[in-house]
Amino acid sequence: MAKRIAVLVSGGGTNLQALIDAQGRGELTGGEIAAVLSSSPDAYALERAKKAGIPGYVLPRGDARAVTAALVERLQALDIHLVVMAGFMTIVTEELFRAYPNAVLNIHPSLIPSFCGVGCYGLHVHEKALAYGVKVSGATVHFVTEECDAGPIVLQKAVEVLPEDTPETLQRRIMEQCEWKLLPRAVSLFCQGRLRVEGRKVTVLENAE
Ligand code: GRF
Repeated sequence: MAKRIAVLVSGGGTNLQALIDAQGRGELTGGEIAAVLSSSPDAYALERAKKAGIPGYVLPRGDARAVTAALVERLQALDIHLVVMAGFMTIVTEELFRAYPNAVLNIHPSLIPSFCGVGCYGLHVHEKALAYGVKVSGATVHFVTEECDAGPIVLQKAVEVLPEDTPETLQRRIMEQCEWKLLPRAVSLFCQGRLRVEGRKVTVLENAE
């Protein structure tokens, strides 16, 4: 039976689109996007879900604990197996990871542990990478744990930083060459049962366990 995937979004949803497109090409082996949950009623990601015929939901606003309780209740009602944070900008509490241990994935636009952690999101990530003068940057898919951006790493991909890069050009290159490829691949590996997590280490298995 296919694993039911919920994608959590807050904004434009290009990573959601990459997942929808991968599903359309038959590349989300073992999984199906069952729902899109947004922290904002105005997120363009909800339009993308609608166009793809995927049910969309708007989460209530409130303090982190109340929002997480509503989120977990909705995920369980929808019989979700895998939660994917794709540009989800809302803080959640440990109840989510208790309900979904090693079953919440996030995409971050840097090579963790560089340029990550509290306050490091969006264009800030790329501003910091350029200010530091790194020669490569990239993206990371990781399992989400209570500590921000610090869960076990599933996949990473690097790109060169070019001398003429601005935060915007670097952001775009990382999205196109890293994020939109890594996230569908990681989701598919999870859904095929090919990710083994031992402590911080994630092993990609040849075959399902
Ligand atoms: C991406 O850069 C992702 O890595 C980060 O938030 C951004 C979301 O973009 N977590 P989009 O909404 O998927 O276009």
